[in-house]
Amino acid sequence: MVADPLSLLVEPIRRRLDGAVAAQQPHWTAHPDLPGCRAVLAEAPAPVSAAEVAEVQRAVAVVAGGNAQVLQLGDCAESFHEVGEEHVRAKLGLLHGLADELARRGGQEVLRVGRLGGQFAKPRSQLTERVGDRTLPVFRGHMVNSEEPTPAARRHDPRRMLQALAASAAVLGQVRADRTRRAGGPFAAGPWASHDALVLDYEASLVRAGAGRRFLASTHLPWIGDRTRQPGSAHVRLLAALANPVACKVGPTTDLAALRAVCARLDPDREPGRLTLIVRLGAGAVADLLPRLVAAVRSWGHPVVWLSDPMHGNTIRVGGGLKTRRLDDVVTEAVRFRRILRRCGAHPGGLHLEVAATDVTECVGGPVRDVDALPRRYTTLCDPRLNPTQTAELLRHWAEA
Ligand code: PEP
Ligand code: CO
Repeated sequence: MVADPLSLLVEPIRRRLDGAVAAQQPHWTAHPDLPGCRAVLAEAPAPVSAAEVAEVQRAVAVVAGGNAQVLQLGDCAESFHEVGEEHVRAKLGLLHGLADELARRGGQEVLRVGRLGGQFAKPRSQLTERVGDRTLPVFRGHMVNSEEPTPAARRHDPRRMLQALAASAAVLGQVRADRTRRAGGPFAAGPWASHDALVLDYEASLVRAGAGRRFLASTHLPWIGDRTRQPGSAHVRLLAALANPVACKVGPTTDLAALRAVCARLDPDREPGRLTLIVRLGAGAVADLLPRLVAAVRSWGHPVVWLSDPMHGNTIRVGGGLKTRRLDDVVTEAVRFRRILRRCGAHPGGLHLEVAATDVTECVGGPVRDVDALPRRYTTLCDPRLNPTQTAELLRHWAEA
C-alpha cells in the first residue's frame, strides 16, 4: 500500500478541524519549530497499522455483543522516562496477570488494553499552579512540557511531540511482539494500546490511509476526554473521520442532547465495536445518572460498549493538597455500575483504571491504611493510581458483584 501524499491525507483532516472548538491545546502555536515538527510526524513511519485497527475493531465488537470484557489500565500520565523494555514488560505483566484473573473469575475472555504507548498529554482544570512562592504553568504531560517546577521546564515545546512518537514507536513495538507471542486464541485479546487523543497537532499529523480508509496511526483505541467531548469539538470531528474503534468519557456534566449528538457523530452506522462509552460519574452520582444514560443510548440504537472508569469521579484532596482516591469509593462506583448495567439488561463491558505496576501509595485503602501513608511512594506525574494489590481487590469485588 502506498501512503497517500501528505497533501491528500492530513490537510483535509486539518481543514475539517478548522474553526471547531479545540479545548486543552498546548500554547505553542507561535513556536518556530511547530510546522517542522508537524511535517516530520506526517511523514514518519506509523506505529499502528490498518490491519491492527481492523482487528481491534472486531475484538471490541465481541465485547459489544456481551461475549467478552475489557480491562483497560495504565498510568494517568505516562512518563518518557518509563518507556524502556523493563518498564513496559512490568506494565504488560500486570495487565495480563489481572486480565487472566478476571477471565477466570468472570468466565469470559478479557480484551487487554493499556493506557500506554502514547498517553503523554493531559487535560487540566487549571492553567497554572502555585509551587512555593511561584506561579507556574501546570504540567500537561511529557508531550507538552516537563513536570520539573521551573518556568523553563514548564514551557510548551512542540519538539516534545517527536520524542512522544519515538517513545510510542518503541512501546508499541514491544506491545506488538507481546501480542504476536500470545496470538492463536479464538479472540484477539491483545494487548492493545490506547490514549487520550488530546493534542491535535500530534494526532492529526498521524492520520494514515489503509484498506481504503483513514485511520489514526498513533494508537489502536483513541479516546476523547471529558473536557473535550463537546459534540462539535475538534476532537469529536477528528475521531469521527477515522476507522479506529473510539471511546468517549462520560462525566457528571454530560447532558443527554450532547451525548446524543456525540453518539450520532462517532457511531453514525450503529456499528458494534465502533463506540465505547467510559462512564466516570463518581460513586455518589452513578446510581442517579447512569440508568437514564443507558436507557437513552439504547433508545438511539447505538450498540456501544459500556466501561466504568471509577477513578476520575472520585478524586479528593487531603492535607497539603495531595490528590488521592479512596479504594472504597472506587469499588463502590464500579460495583454500582455493574449492577445498574445488569438491571438495565445491558452488558457491563469492563473497567478503565489508573494503575501502577509498582507498589505505589497514591490511593487510600487495602495496604495503604490511611492518608499518612500516602507520601511514602507517591510518584505519579498526575492522578493517583491504584497499586497492584488494590487493583486485585477491586477486581474481586467487580467479579462478585
Ligand atoms: C484521564 O483519563 O486521565 C482523564 C483526564 O479523564 P477524564 O477526561 O475523564 O477527566
Ligand atoms: Co487521570
